[in-house]
Parts: sequence; C-alpha cells; structure tokens
Amino acid sequence: MRFDILTIFPEAVSGFFATGILGQARDKGLLEVHLHDLRDFTDDRHRTVDDRPYGGGAGMVMRVEPFVDGLEAVRSMVKGSARSILLSSQGKLFRQEDAIRWARLDGLILLCGRYEGVDERVLEFVDEEVSIGDYVLAGGEAAAAVIVEATARLVPGVVGRFESVEGDSFYKKEHLGPPQYTRPEAFRGLSVPEVLLSGNHAKIEAFREREAWNKTTRNRPDLLGLDLDREKTDG
Ligand code: ADE
Repeated sequence: MRFDILTIFPEAVSGFFATGILGQARDKGLLEVHLHDLRDFTDDRHRTVDDRPYGGGAGMVMRVEPFVDGLEAVRSMVKGSARSILLSSQGKLFRQEDAIRWARLDGLILLCGRYEGVDERVLEFVDEEVSIGDYVLAGGEAAAAVIVEATARLVPGVVGRFESVEGDSFYKKEHLGPPQYTRPEAFRGLSVPEVLLSGNHAKIEAFREREAWNKTTRNRPDLLGLDLDREKTDG
C-alpha cells in the first residue's frame, strides 16, 4: 500500500515513518510513504501557501491551489484505488473501521492543513474531511501520522501475527482489549493474576472477557451505551 502526504513540513514527519513496524514494512516493500512539499505546488517567487481570509478576521488561510495542484499531481502517480483525505479538526471522527476500510485500498492521499484553516473549496476535490479527535492541533501532520500507522498495521504482513491485530481494542468490537502482563511475576508487590498462570484456557478466556468489560465500563462507558459524563479526576 502507498501513502502520500502533502504538507508544508515534510521533514517533520519523515523520521516517524522510518522507525518501528512502519520502517520494517517499508524495507520489506509492503508499504511506501511519499512526502510532498506543498510549496512545490505554488507558482510565485515566495512559494506562498497562505493568504488573508476573505471577509476579514484573525489568522491566515491556506490557499486552494497548492492543495488541488498537489493532489492532482499525486493522484496521477498512484496506481489503482486511492482515497484523498483532508485532515482538519472540522472533519468526521477517525475510527478503527475507517482504518479497516482504507487498508484494502492501493493508496491513501493525506492533505495536511495549517494556520487558521484551509480554503473551503479544497473540500470539492477530496473524498473526505477527517479529524482524529475533539481537540485542535497546530496542523494535520500528527493526525496524518496517526492515520498512516493505524491503517498500515492492518495491511497483511505488516504486523507479524494477525491475531494480535484482531485482538486489539476496537477491532470490529465495541469494547476495549483485556489487560496484559509479562515477566516478572511479581513487581513491587504487584502480582500477575493467578488465573493467567494456571494454564486453564477456558478460565483465562473468561477472566479476559470479564476484565475487558470492567475496563470498558470504567474508561469508555459510552461504548456500552452507558453514562457519557466524564469523571473529573484532575482535582
Ligand atoms: N488539524 C488540527 N486539528 C486536527 C484534528 N483534531 N484532527 C485532524 N487534523 C487536525
């Protein structure tokens, strides 16, 4: 699978894709990540990507031309099925099911906004506008990294054992994953739950289900259709 990222800071994200499972998958030829500088798609001497907003107001708005020219140039490089996504805090919330859907494509083209926003007309040229959460980032680059990682690990061969992907919280399920433990058996008086050492697979499965349920109730009651009010724990 191929990922293309259009950004004014290609150098800010390049290291991220070179490390860990993404780096290994690139070495194996399972993934390609191509970074494109939006300024390469400007036609003025200063390579200007932003301008003042029509109607006035604070801040700058990213211009439509670099995004659309960049997108069209990249699209012609991607063979097969691809979707284009504008990252913005105004988009539809990114979820695991999106990653599952996109991992079946040949390519994903991610456009990163910055400044106060992006000229609304860019939306006429992309397939989706996506946000990674209800908070405002300085730009779409971190969001693009999140989406590439979540999608890439679902591409066959990227994660060694596919069972570990299917066991993830959110993998086609409405609850979180069970707690996991590894050696040592005891750490500062905290022991690994006895049942996990028992070798009794039925009991282990029952324990994991129960604990996954408990954790979901505690941390994400909304997934179970329960109380949405967030407990105030910050003092
Ligand atoms: N750009 C700024 N905030 C963002 C968010 N929450 N998700 C995606 N892109 C963004």
